[in-house]
Amino acid sequence: MSINNWKISKDVKDLLNVRKAPLGVGGVTSIFTIMSALAQQNNAINLSQGFPDFHIDEQLAHLLGEAAHKGHNQYSPMPGLPALRQAIAGDIKKRYGVDVDADNEITVTPGATYAIYTAFTAILQQGDEVIVLEPAYDSYVPNIEMNGAKAVTIALQAPRFNPDWNKIKDAITSRTRAIIVNTPHNPTGAVWSKKDWDQLAEIIRDTNIIVLSDEVYEQIVFDGMKHYSVLQHPELRQRSFALYSFGKVYNNTGWKVGYTIAPPAYTQAVRRIHQFLVFSVNTPAQYALALNMANDTAPPVHTIMQKKRDHFLSLIKQTPFTIYEPARGSYFQLAGYSNISNLPDTEFAQWLTKEYGVATIPVSVLYKNKKDDRLIRFCFAKKEETLNEAANRLRRLKAIS
Ligand SMILES: Cc1ncc(COP(=O)(O)O)c(C=O)c1O
Repeated sequence: MSINNWKISKDVKDLLNVRKAPLGVGGVTSIFTIMSALAQQNNAINLSQGFPDFHIDEQLAHLLGEAAHKGHNQYSPMPGLPALRQAIAGDIKKRYGVDVDADNEITVTPGATYAIYTAFTAILQQGDEVIVLEPAYDSYVPNIEMNGAKAVTIALQAPRFNPDWNKIKDAITSRTRAIIVNTPHNPTGAVWSKKDWDQLAEIIRDTNIIVLSDEVYEQIVFDGMKHYSVLQHPELRQRSFALYSFGKVYNNTGWKVGYTIAPPAYTQAVRRIHQFLVFSVNTPAQYALALNMANDTAPPVHTIMQKKRDHFLSLIKQTPFTIYEPARGSYFQLAGYSNISNLPDTEFAQWLTKEYGVATIPVSVLYKNKKDDRLIRFCFAKKEETLNEAANRLRRLKAIS
């Protein structure tokens, strides 16, 4: 039965009409859904959406089944399982050398996208402004707008996609409530140094601006570099939400478990929302993650992804694509295609999927104003054979002489 056949009151009809929140590229369908669907229709290799195509660690998979068998199948405590929050606090201490209060500063969430949304909802009022550095993960701008605030976007500077501090400074107004930072960065692979954080601290020192630090790729940095977390910056930490995703650490994006670390007052504000949105997060997954963290035997994700990045770079060299900067973190690599085509990037990505059977993401969709630098994004978190087959197809492309 269609909704029109139901007897619904005018109030309900009005409600159905009004809540048309901005839903990002292509309305309800994001570019990731579009490109993945196009990949499927064309039997293409999907290097578009950011997810691994290989199995997760056997021990972790086993622990998930065991948690369900042992009866850990009911609601967990609202902030997250104490054992998991303790494990996270221990891990943060080990990796970043900072103390985090598991009871008052960590909240387990159904993924980082939700963590970002709830952090925004906790702090934003109608009319507030949020600075977004672009290209940016596609949930940021819609999440800001859903909360009645305005996204003030500033382009990062190619080819290294460094922040333009003067532009950021100039964008600050009395309405600026927050800035969202993402390091290691999707889609550019750029990684912030401590110096970048110091610059940000200096710029916002005399303001009330809150920092959202999206660090989902914290454990995927290459060539011996280290991720510097906002939690390690004593001044910024007091005014920041740090946002994480287990999906990017254990290659299990479909589990959708992440967490927020924030000072107690911010944490309380997030939990006030969280308790009425989902209340609690998948219990067996939390058990499995907590037990796994206590005795993690798998190779670290940066080792797995470093091999894949290096392999992908060696393959892409045999094609006419241009690599301006190798990814320094995350599992994405940008590539220029102006040697191959003059098409706008959205058309080029669709053409590549249909004609050559490799799906990618056109980078313009990650800018609010659809800035097109003729770049596409490849996800290299794939099996070696997937990357090899993609390269076989891409090698057939010809450079325009
Ligand atoms: C920069 C960035 N933030 C957040 C997320 C979302 O993480 P989750 O799957 O845990 O919601 C992603 C996933 O691709 C991402 O690339």
